[in-house]
Amino acid sequence: MSNLWQQVNQIIKEISPITIGGVSFKSPLLLAPMAGVTDAPLRRLMYDLGAGGAITELISCHAINYKNERTLKMLTLQEGETNTGVQLFGTIDDLDHLLKAMDQVVGRGFTFIDLNMGCPVRKVVTKGGGSALIKDPGKLGPFLTKLREHSPLPFSIKIRTGWDQNSLNAHQVVKAATDSKVAWVAIHGRPRSQFYNGAANWEYIEEVASESELPIIGNGDLNSTKIIRERLANSNCAALMLGRGPTKDPSLFIAPFADDPNFSLHGEDYLAILQRLRQYHHQYGLPARVQFIQLRKQAVWFSAGQRESTQFRQQLFQLDTMEKLWQQCEIFFTKKV
Ligand SMILES: Cc1cc2nc3c(=O)[nH]c(=O)nc-3n(C[C@H](O)[C@H](O)[C@H](O)COP(=O)(O)O)c2cc1C
Repeated sequence: MSNLWQQVNQIIKEISPITIGGVSFKSPLLLAPMAGVTDAPLRRLMYDLGAGGAITELISCHAINYKNERTLKMLTLQEGETNTGVQLFGTIDDLDHLLKAMDQVVGRGFTFIDLNMGCPVRKVVTKGGGSALIKDPGKLGPFLTKLREHSPLPFSIKIRTGWDQNSLNAHQVVKAATDSKVAWVAIHGRPRSQFYNGAANWEYIEEVASESELPIIGNGDLNSTKIIRERLANSNCAALMLGRGPTKDPSLFIAPFADDPNFSLHGEDYLAILQRLRQYHHQYGLPARVQFIQLRKQAVWFSAGQRESTQFRQQLFQLDTMEKLWQQCEIFFTKKV
């Protein structure tokens, strides 16, 4: 094993596990669900890099019940995924379909079931799904209770701070979740109106967490070792969830726990990490075209902020074979500064 993985494993050994809502996570830092990004190979890679848990991207209850091939693949975990939850999405009117979908995901190795209450996409919210679910917390009680009672696994929800700046209501949604005995609530610190832009409102997350009987998982802008260290030390949250941060800087799950305050990864480490992801894509058996797209996406994100990353990105988008893509990655990530 290369020096990188030995170093990583050494740090992981020092991380204290946490138990929330009946689930034991190996670390308080979890990987956030991201559609088109957090597929099984990427989740497995992030577990290797110290993530304490992960969640699939949102999966429609109808797609699950329909059992199409692509959805069944999304419900297939990869080896090494010790604490992965499956994220369902549907509306209040879809309750029966959601309950049925819960039955379908049993026995596939998931550790918990999560409900998406944060997706901002117009097509989703106009039907009443994703973040539209938090618009009227008064309606949530019976809905969440039925889901929690039916769920064969711990049942959690992931929400936003509110619909827009003028209607921050996560505290009311958390109250409904508490009454419904949901396992925990993950709060993305942006209202729906912000989509993924602008700063996450940690002041509000902390306020809600300090008043909540339920464990709260804080999420948003956890994209530097310094910020994560500070939040681990001072937050009222039971755990933290990292989204885009580790897709650019894969040291974020371990660096906050390293003895060396300047622990960071270098060019050749990124290449070793990409090599492992490539191997996981292959083992998971995604179509070759998807493997190519996912590896290219990850290589571009890892290159962000490095010298000549713009040219690298342009080059990658002109290539069409895995061999050429890999060659360019080798050149870029092993270049001497
Ligand atoms: C490309 C992308 C896809 C996402 N897909 C989902 C999803 O399927 N389910 C979900 O609950 N959140 C989703 N999110 C939101 C993230 O889980 C997270 O809440 C958000 O990115 C904020 O965290 P960050 O600032 O660390 O990135 C997505 C975010 C991005 C950028």
